[in-house]
Amino acid sequence: MSSTSTPGLESYRRAAIIGGGVIGVSWAALFLARGLDVVISDPRPDIEDLVRTGLDGIAPTLAELGLPTDGLADGLSFEADLATAVAGVDVVQENGPERLDLKQRIWRTVEQAAPAHALLTTSTSSIPATAIAEGMAQPERLIVGHPFNPPHLVPLVEVVPGERTSPEVVEQARAFYTALGKQPQVLRKEIPGFVANRLQAALFRECVHLVSQGVVTEQELDEVVTASIGLRWAVAGPFRTFHLGGGPGGLPQFIEHLGRGMEAGLWPALGSPSFDDTTVALLTEEAREAFGEGEDDIDRLAAARDRAQIALMRALGETPQAA
Ligand SMILES: NC(=O)c1ccc[n+]([C@@H]2O[C@H](COP(=O)([O-])OP(=O)(O)OC[C@H]3O[C@@H](n4cnc5c(N)ncnc54)[C@H](O)[C@@H]3O)[C@@H](O)[C@H]2O)c1
Repeated sequence: MSSTSTPGLESYRRAAIIGGGVIGVSWAALFLARGLDVVISDPRPDIEDLVRTGLDGIAPTLAELGLPTDGLADGLSFEADLATAVAGVDVVQENGPERLDLKQRIWRTVEQAAPAHALLTTSTSSIPATAIAEGMAQPERLIVGHPFNPPHLVPLVEVVPGERTSPEVVEQARAFYTALGKQPQVLRKEIPGFVANRLQAALFRECVHLVSQGVVTEQELDEVVTASIGLRWAVAGPFRTFHLGGGPGGLPQFIEHLGRGMEAGLWPALGSPSFDDTTVALLTEEAREAFGEGEDDIDRLAAARDRAQIALMRALGETPQAA
């Protein structure tokens, strides 16, 4: 058993990661780098190879972030039996498939087998904790800890209590993710898709509309975003941006001068595209042209994105938002 000296994580020695796919392996890497022992529970027969390969791929990013990576996998183990895996852990982060029935089944087993003090969190990106906790004897113990992919890199974790989650668990989750170096945001109300993914969905709907209408190509649209709102939103969110856009009168002035026109002229004109065959064929062809089509292209682009993301995060220590 490793003992972690990360402030705030002293009482977290051992974590269970349920589901070692895209999100599970990323959480596992971060937990290990922060000094926790990690047991992975996943029925895939090749899970050990997948996770170890995944960790090798993530280690350079952790090192870039200043986290220790020597002997990263020393505290790693695998246990397919769910009840055995969660016995003796201090925290459970569940990352199984996004299916309500499956998550409900997993959590009914976990709550019986995990120690009473263990923090119980699910990475679900859309299902409310209230629904997952139906059938649990102690629904007050479950909370959503929704990361933004990849959790080892992107700061945000949406902490979303269910209707019956206890306030103590909300605080425990917030403190845990903070100690891990994440930026938890507790939502005040459960809503499907939470906040970040709803925003992405709204913007992406218009992106698909603009490309399908031939206004811009995918590559051109991406450049519009990264050269304007993407850059700006990394420094000041939409409300702060428009508050500043209103001049001395701030947001109320912005609403009077530009917001009402946006409401009258633009909101009704926004597109409602669908992923019909023609649209999907167009999006696929443009993605191939812009980004290539091999796995190597994806790996190369992902590595470049992560390097740039880290550089940006370093620079953001200096922003007004951080202040
Ligand atoms: N991929 C993302 O961008 C993203 C972001 C945030 C949250 N999430 C959420 O994280 C969760 C996992 O998503 P993912 O993208 O890693 O999926 P994934 O398909 O990559 O991984 C799911 C893993 O769960 C395993 N699994 C299947 N049945 C299981 C069981 N009974 N017990 C334990 N493990 C089981 C699978 O073998 C697989 O390895 C989902 O709830 C998803 O909504 C995903």
